[in-house]
Amino acid sequence: MIREISAKELDTKKFIEEKVKEIKITVGDGIAINALSGGVDSSTVTMLGHKALGKQLRTVFIQNGLMREGEPEKVAGFFRKLGIDIEIIDAQKEFLAALKGITDPEEKREAITQTFYKKVFGKLVKESGAKFLLQGTILTDVDETVAGIKRQHNVFAQLGIDPQKAFGYQIIEPLIQLRKDGVRMTGKALGLPEELFARIPFPGPALAARIIGEVTAGRLETVRKATMVVERMLSDKGAFQYMAILHEDRVTGMRNGKRDFGQQIEVRCWDSIDARTASPTRLSFDILEKLAAEIIKEVPGIVSVTYNITTKPPSTIEAV
Ligand code: XMP
Repeated sequence: MIREISAKELDTKKFIEEKVKEIKITVGDGIAINALSGGVDSSTVTMLGHKALGKQLRTVFIQNGLMREGEPEKVAGFFRKLGIDIEIIDAQKEFLAALKGITDPEEKREAITQTFYKKVFGKLVKESGAKFLLQGTILTDVDETVAGIKRQHNVFAQLGIDPQKAFGYQIIEPLIQLRKDGVRMTGKALGLPEELFARIPFPGPALAARIIGEVTAGRLETVRKATMVVERMLSDKGAFQYMAILHEDRVTGMRNGKRDFGQQIEVRCWDSIDARTASPTRLSFDILEKLAAEIIKEVPGIVSVTYNITTKPPSTIEAV
C-alpha cells in the first residue's frame, strides 16, 4: 500500500528535503537517468533529481514521434533556461514500427511500454552505465492500473513486474504518493516556471492515447494538427485538460460540392481537480462553433467535429 499525501497535508519544503535525501542515498555515487516528456510529472522529477544528484543525473527527451508539434525543442529550451541540459534522442522509427498494425488500446500501450523501457531506454542505460531510472509515476497512475482501467505505461511494481529483471535497471519514483495537485505544488516549490508546472496534463503514450485505431505517421499528423487548434483555442478557459481525439470511423461529408468520406475529430475539455473524476467544461456554443470551423479549416481530411459531454466515470479522460 502506498501512503497518499494529499495536496492539503503536503508540506512541499519537507517533502522535497525528504525525497532529495532518499534519492541521494539510493543512487549513492552511481549514475541515474531520467526521461523528460515536458509534462508536469516528469518536469517535477527532473528538477527534484537534479537537486539531489546534479551531474550524476542525465536527462533525456525521447522523441518518439508521438509528441505535440515542436515539443522536444520547446521543452529542452525551457530547461536550458533553468540550467539543465536535455539530450534529445530520436526514436521515432522504433515507436512507429512497434505500433504498426495494432488497434487494441492495451496492446498499443504495451507496445509503447516495451519500446520505451526495453528497447530505447535499455540501450541508453547500458551505454551510460546508469543503474537507476528516475520517473514521475503518481498515485493516480497506480490506482487506474491496479483497478484494471488502463495500463499506465509507467507502472510496474504494483503489477508484480520487477524492472531490474525485466529491463536491467531499478526505477525510483519520488512522486508516487502524490496526485496532480500535489505535483504542481512541488514543481512550483522547486522553481519550475508557471508555463511548466501549470501545464495541462499530457499522457505518457502521448498522441497515441488520442488515436482510436492504428497509429500511423499520417494519422499522427492529423491529430497533431487538431491538437494545436484545440490547445490554442481552449487555453484560456480555466479547464483542467483539453484534447483532440481522432476517431477510426469515417463519415460521409461534403467538400466543394463533392462527397467526401472523411475523418472525425472529437474534442474533449475537462473540469477536474485530480483527474480521478471529471466533467466536461460548459463551453459556450459560440466557442464550440469556432473550434469546429478552425479544425475543419486547418486539419485536412476532417468532415466532422464533435464535443464530448460525458463525465468521468464512466468515460476516462483520454480516449484510448
Ligand atoms: P484517464 O484517461 O485514465 O487519465 O482518465 C487520467 C489522467 O492521467 C493522464 N495520463 C495518462 N492517461 N495513460 C492514460 O490513459 C497514460 O499513460 C497517462 N499518463 C498520464 C491523463 O492525461 C489524465 O490527465
